[in-house]
Amino acid sequence: MQIKDWSEDLQKRGVPYFKNEPPGPRSQEMIDKAKHYITSCWAGKKCEAGDGWDLPLTVRRVANSLIEDVDGNVYIDLNGGISTMNFGYNNPEIWMRTLEIMEEYGIRGIFPSNDYNTPLMVDTSQKILETVPHGENYRVHYACDGTEANEAAIKTAISYTGRSCVVSFMGAFYGRTMGSLSCMAQKARDAETFRPLRSSNIYFAEGPNCPNCIFCKEPEDCAGHCIDYFLKDRVLSYQVYPHEVAAFILEPYITGGLMHPAPQEFLKSLREICDEHQIMLIFDEVQSGMGRSGKMWTHEHYTVEPDIFTTAKSFGGGVAPLSAAIISDEIMENLPAYHGSTYGGAPISLAGNMAALEYMEQYKLLDQVIMLGNHIEKRFNDWDSYDNVWQTRGWGLLKAVDFRESKDKPLPDYKSQIQLELFKKGVITMSGGQGRYLSLLRIIPPFTIPIYQLDTALDIFEETIQK
Ligand SMILES: Cc1ncc(COP(=O)(O)O)c(C=O)c1O
Repeated sequence: MQIKDWSEDLQKRGVPYFKNEPPGPRSQEMIDKAKHYITSCWAGKKCEAGDGWDLPLTVRRVANSLIEDVDGNVYIDLNGGISTMNFGYNNPEIWMRTLEIMEEYGIRGIFPSNDYNTPLMVDTSQKILETVPHGENYRVHYACDGTEANEAAIKTAISYTGRSCVVSFMGAFYGRTMGSLSCMAQKARDAETFRPLRSSNIYFAEGPNCPNCIFCKEPEDCAGHCIDYFLKDRVLSYQVYPHEVAAFILEPYITGGLMHPAPQEFLKSLREICDEHQIMLIFDEVQSGMGRSGKMWTHEHYTVEPDIFTTAKSFGGGVAPLSAAIISDEIMENLPAYHGSTYGGAPISLAGNMAALEYMEQYKLLDQVIMLGNHIEKRFNDWDSYDNVWQTRGWGLLKAVDFRESKDKPLPDYKSQIQLELFKKGVITMSGGQGRYLSLLRIIPPFTIPIYQLDTALDIFEETIQK
């Protein structure tokens, strides 16, 4: 059996390629129809450009880092499916291997994984834990998407500690179901309307939002005030006692909201507070995990280990949805509560994960992430000097360009204008930001993007912002 690869087809006229100015007539027709039939992206009035989506794009075919729209225009994707496509769209080797694995294990598609064990699940979990530092001390709980993994992590901490409060760190994104949403203080828009359903047992501390720090002008001036004055004082002394807190939840590398890693000292301080008060430390690595930061798991950059960390996005190898809360053994041995997920750990998703882990090893993809990340950094060299570019930053393939006049003057409209201009020139990017700093364009391409395509896209990017 052969898996069709559309790469050659999509590249044969050069990339990007335009038949007409996007959105072309067929795309426009699809966007108009979608307004009647689809509510999958429920963005209200936010996205004028795409009438509900970030961009006015209707996808026909995809291959690795290329997207063809229904009018036959071909774009270079610097967004990697918001990190769901670390191994490229429709990766034929991963798909073939996924099918083979399902045949080897005699099981396909969907299966109520909560109810029966399978060798596929045992072997996949073993392979996953081999990638985790001290993986022998953890177990994998499977779910389908990022928010569900975070729900599982929060429920686990509450159940294990018997405590009912959570301290969350502002600026990150945790998901759209009520538990994750309750922990979110990234954009007021996300909470508006749903306040009555949000938990009142969540307390908010300042996250590792260094570029937007309210205490220091420059990250280099960091004196740890966010921990000493905000977390220890305003949160754990004014609002909630440490002995009431089940967990701290945060993204150790804030992705969509910032594209910035937490300082080592910040995480070390959190670990110390957690150890002192038996609070569980939860890291959300939904977007930053699976190799994007240049290491398999984001916390490998630090000397700090979480009690639970979550992963999703490319965890199913780009084949099927898969997420997990990876939970310490110690917790799992002493957990009174029940939790599960019907589709979590479906055979196709596990096989996709196993195929992807093999593929990462075979092609040394972590080295590739570092190489491409360094390449982007070199290309960034002059960009900070352009008008309206405040900073370029990020580890590995978690990069961003931040458009501001100065630290406190973000340029969200300018960013959206650049995003649309890039799209019309054949380059797809994803916006990002937190609070009033909605000024980021993320650069998170697949790890498999050919360097000539990356360079073409960065040339277009540079020419668009060069002023
Ligand atoms: C850091 C982070 N956490 C959690 C989520 C929620 O994941 P999902 O949309 O799969 O529920 C996302 C999604 O974008 C994310 O980026």
